[in-house]
Amino acid sequence: MKINMDIIKCKDEDEIGRRAASLVAETIHREPHCILGLATGSTPVGMYKNLVKLYEQGTLDFSKVRSFNLDEYYPIQPEDPQSYRYFMNENLFDHINIDPANTYVPHGNSENPEMVCEAYDLMIQAAGGIDLQVLGIGNNGHIAFNEPSDHFPAGTHVVDLQESTIKANARFFDSEQDVPRQAISMGIGSILRAKRIILLASGEAKAEAVKACIEGPITPLCPASALQLHPDVTVFVDEAAAKLLSK
Ligand code: GLP
Repeated sequence: MKINMDIIKCKDEDEIGRRAASLVAETIHREPHCILGLATGSTPVGMYKNLVKLYEQGTLDFSKVRSFNLDEYYPIQPEDPQSYRYFMNENLFDHINIDPANTYVPHGNSENPEMVCEAYDLMIQAAGGIDLQVLGIGNNGHIAFNEPSDHFPAGTHVVDLQESTIKANARFFDSEQDVPRQAISMGIGSILRAKRIILLASGEAKAEAVKACIEGPITPLCPASALQLHPDVTVFVDEAAAKLLSK
């Protein structure tokens, strides 16, 4: 079978973090005004740590960079420590010289989330589109919060989170009851419009989703499989997450 994606096998999560950060840094060096698409979750934390290190060493300048995050819980306040806005501030934005006004995360506290979704897509378009999109992957093959379903959502939309995602993400909350039942997420169409995509996956729990994403049929039952339609995807996997791949 022909695989379009570039698969980079790493020893462990540390190596994924280092190599993914250097690819992001190269993009910023080449295009200081670039638009980054950013992800939350535990997988990209190492990449963010390495980006902060490069900034502290004086080799990386974020002053002209703009960023759009993939998703946010709904409803949630931006100051809530479980919000993705808070996560991004804590893990990256507060430690680098990006202008906070140039960092976009969908508003999780609006009374009109549909309007937030529509405005988000327009803002990405007005900014000129995403140059480099960073993705993690859920155990069920979701990307951003695009859950397995009977279709690929096109634009940013409100999602009902699936039971498996609520359970998987409960580790960040005091209890499973506290996990919001909905989210605002970029669509598969929004993600595929990015010029370049990198997907990061580590740990055995991701092995099946990684195999379905790269080697399975293109189906909304595994939303990440849509990445096979994109011409420029690089996947950073560790040995555990790569263990079911045929090569
Ligand atoms: C969440 C996020 C996804 C992320 C996924 C995997 O549900 N919405 O964007 O990729 O979790 O997270 P982790 O990296 O913690 O396994």
